Amino acid sequence: MTDFLTLNNDVRIPTLGLGVFQSPPDETTAAVEAALGAGYRHIDTAAGYGNEREVGEGIRRSGLDRSDVFIETKVWVSDYGHDETLHAFEKSATKLGVDQIDLLILHQPMPQHFERTIAAYQALEALLADGRVRAIGVSNFMPHHLEALRAETDVVPAVNQVELHPYFTQSEVQRADAALGTLTQAWSPIGGITFYPGWGEGRKSVLDDDTIGRIAVAHDKSPAQVMLRWHLQQGRSVIPKSTNPDRIRQNIDVFDFDLTEGELVDIDALDRGVRGGPDPDEVDPSTWDLEISEA
Ligand code: A2P
Repeated sequence: MTDFLTLNNDVRIPTLGLGVFQSPPDETTAAVEAALGAGYRHIDTAAGYGNEREVGEGIRRSGLDRSDVFIETKVWVSDYGHDETLHAFEKSATKLGVDQIDLLILHQPMPQHFERTIAAYQALEALLADGRVRAIGVSNFMPHHLEALRAETDVVPAVNQVELHPYFTQSEVQRADAALGTLTQAWSPIGGITFYPGWGEGRKSVLDDDTIGRIAVAHDKSPAQVMLRWHLQQGRSVIPKSTNPDRIRQNIDVFDFDLTEGELVDIDALDRGVRGGPDPDEVDPSTWDLEISEA
């Protein structure tokens, strides 16, 4: 079973959830069902992933009560703006088949149009006040984006979901989150971004790292389990993605061992300071060809 963390507004979030980034819609329902059957109680999706309907279907097929599953989703940038973001909530909730979303976050800052980012976040604040969402937050925010957001909004983000794995540990973001009381949530927690096909050549998968491998052998666990344990022991939330039932089960089987302080330090030392995903300041996400369909 999963452990829980408490967000800054006292809402409890299962520490480990299933990620569905790049889960094809036709595999997503089965993955969600497998995860919920294996004990997961948290699914992280996004309007931009195009699989919210299938996530909702997997949750319904599991037979679990709605209140037993923590649903997190994200507003895509083409829906930023006050009224647009309120409507984005309606689209996501309808596709998911729910009245309330547990955690709704902004998918990216839009540094080039920060006023729309602010307006979108203010819409999240309104949704929170109305009880349509239980917690709100952000994703891919760097410390200066957090600072700019805090200057113009009231509710401290409950979560900042960022790329974070042993090759990119984002210590400055983690410090900024901690100073605010914002939970750092790791996307690509086992470094999927270091080996996704088509994301650049010549990259080394952190799953093949020698240090991770040595620690995995010492605990009779897999490299993925070692990385997930590293996150959990350092207080982060994680959302490993898999559509494979065996790996889905493996990824939640991380609550029965402890890494030593020395092992945590050794993993921290693997940081290369190079992100695998897009730089939130360099990419203008509004230029990406992605519009979110009506429900
Ligand atoms: P698959 O869906 O076929 O299992 P991340 O969440 O860090 O981005 O990682 C996701 C990637 O890692 C996907 O390619 C996923 O593929 C793969 N993956 C997920 N769990 C494991 C595991 N336990 N061992 C190896 N690869 C895994």
